[in-house]
Amino acid sequence: MCFLIVLLSTIFAPVVADPLYTACSTEYASGIFPDIVSGQALCRGDVNSSACQTCLREASQKLLEECKSKDAAIWYEACQIRYSFQNLTSLNVYAGKYPVLESQKKSVSDTVHFYDYLKLLMDNLSIDAALNRSKLMFATGEIKFSRNETIYGHAQCTRDIREDECQECLSFALLDLKGCCSSKQGGIVVSGSCNLRFESVQILQRLKSLDSIPNS
Ligand SMILES: *[C@@H]1O[C@H](CO)[C@@H](O)[C@H](O)[C@H]1NC(C)=O
Ligand SMILES: *[C@@H]1O[C@H](CO)[C@@H](O)[C@H](O)[C@H]1NC(C)=O
Ligand SMILES: *[C@@H]1O[C@H](CO)[C@@H](O)[C@H](O)[C@H]1NC(C)=O
Ligand SMILES: *[C@@H]1O[C@H](CO)[C@@H](O)[C@H](O)[C@H]1NC(C)=O
Ligand SMILES: *[C@@H]1O[C@H](CO)[C@@H](O)[C@H](O)[C@H]1NC(C)=O
Repeated sequence: MCFLIVLLSTIFAPVVADPLYTACSTEYASGIFPDIVSGQALCRGDVNSSACQTCLREASQKLLEECKSKDAAIWYEACQIRYSFQNLTSLNVYAGKYPVLESQKKSVSDTVHFYDYLKLLMDNLSIDAALNRSKLMFATGEIKFSRNETIYGHAQCTRDIREDECQECLSFALLDLKGCCSSKQGGIVVSGSCNLRFESVQILQRLKSLDSIPNS
């Protein structure tokens, strides 16, 4: 059922799927605009450059349509983009957002021990994303949870922040992930500088195989 919904929205979506989350600050940019606007874009680490560009084009259009504020950000499956009329320092403050995934509406079979496994995986991925330079701040991995359940996850930081900032951002995100999703089949926390996601199905592969279905 979930698969079907994703599939249909992929076929009928004009370019990319709907945004996961849009955040427009409540401070409106009215009257005089300052001279400087900072912007930042990030694609998920496994997304190729043409799909990345398509996603970012869609994202920036949508963001300008939806937000008329001083700071704004939008997150998609494949990319995220944000701008601010304030300086970049204020952009990098951790502010987790929690898009609700289909998989988050279902619980895992063993809710008592699930978070131990999730934390093990996510701590590992956070260290990998922050410290392994060959990963370019994007790490994926999996851990077997029960006979028939495997947790797949990824962790990513924007490449303008330091290693310790990346680790810190991801540790805040993991706390938030614990809050929303610690016994669910999936969950995602996004922030301006990092994001963290897990699913009990292999999402990267699923998204890839969906992408390769012709739009006819
Ligand atoms: C940027 O913002 C930070 C925190 O909001 C502030 O402390 C800093 O002075 C600002 N820097 C500039 C150059 O405006
Ligand atoms: C944690 O990371 C190490 C090294 O990257 C890897 O060998 C190990 O399998 C990982 N463990 C989990 C639970 O992901
Ligand atoms: C960093 O990632 C590469 C590529 O996946 C891997 O071969 C290497 O073992 C990792 N290094 C550490 C220190 O985990
Ligand atoms: C895994 O098995 C348990 C019981 O053996 C069942 O309750 C649960 O729904 C299964 N989970 C999945 C994802 O198939
Ligand atoms: C890039 O990814 C998209 C979506 O996954 C795919 O349709 C396209 O063929 C890929 N392009 C290249 C050059 O690999």
